[in-house]
Amino acid sequence: MSKVRMIIDTDPGIDDAMAIHYALADPEIELLGLTTVFGNVFVEQATRNALHLLEMGGSDAPVAQGAAAPLGDVLAPPSHNVHGPEGLGDLPAPNPARRAVDTHAADFLAQACRDNPGEVVICAVGPLTNLALALQRSPDIVQHVKKVVIMGGSVYEGGNVTDHAEANIYHDPHAAAQVFAANWPVMMVGLDVTHRITCVAEDFTDLAIASPRIGGFIEQISQFYLDFYRSVGKLNGCGLHDPAAVIACTRPAWFEVESLPLRVVLSGPEAGRTLPDPDADTPLIEICTRVSADAVKAHFLQMYDRWD
Ligand code: BDR
Ligand code: CA
Repeated sequence: MSKVRMIIDTDPGIDDAMAIHYALADPEIELLGLTTVFGNVFVEQATRNALHLLEMGGSDAPVAQGAAAPLGDVLAPPSHNVHGPEGLGDLPAPNPARRAVDTHAADFLAQACRDNPGEVVICAVGPLTNLALALQRSPDIVQHVKKVVIMGGSVYEGGNVTDHAEANIYHDPHAAAQVFAANWPVMMVGLDVTHRITCVAEDFTDLAIASPRIGGFIEQISQFYLDFYRSVGKLNGCGLHDPAAVIACTRPAWFEVESLPLRVVLSGPEAGRTLPDPDADTPLIEICTRVSADAVKAHFLQMYDRWD
């Protein structure tokens, strides 16, 4: 079976870190690069963390920095309360040896799709600003990309930053609306499924035992994340958000979808809400509504046996 050629657009971020290390470990994924975006942290922090996570994983894949702000108004500051002041829990800012390439993330995405027509899966696990900018700057990207898989949104589950909105969509509803309206295949891995896949402290302890270096790092940063979830009292453990989107790229059979056009509420008290809009003349979005949660979680945890 040929590998999935993937670019992860990301705002690392604790669960982003899990997703990136997962992607490096999965033999079915060829990681072509990371593009970074504001969201959980400022974009400069996201870039620095992305470079650090690749360095830890022994990868020299390129990192391209992207948007520092949404297309419209700023609705929320960086999510330091969820991911830590530097985005990696309580850890201080890392100091990676490499630097980002001298190309904007939006142009990096478009060029990678042009260079590998029909092969690149963009897995976006942060606000969708870079993808919207890529559509604006390089409309031909829709002809070249294989698939866009996003972690974001919620149809039945309600929100996590407001009653209605999921964080990645809330950070840039205008960008999300443009991504859902474009003529490219999109799968949405939102809270409807990621809240079903939960990890508790003992799971991260197991990761640290399986792989002291990478799993131990994930265990360390996940403490902050678990503390946040405990403080809001919504889940026993944390949702496996960003890793689920990466896993959906290679194991779509574990996800059930409803295919409907989606509308994004752009402003007001429901800003960032994602609503099915059956009568809209925009493309159908594969909305993940159910998941084989045990299979996804077991597969995610097992991948750490491949490290150290
Ligand atoms: C999403 O928002 C961020 O906090 C996480 O990294 C994830 O991408 C979950 O709503
Ligand atoms: Ca993220």
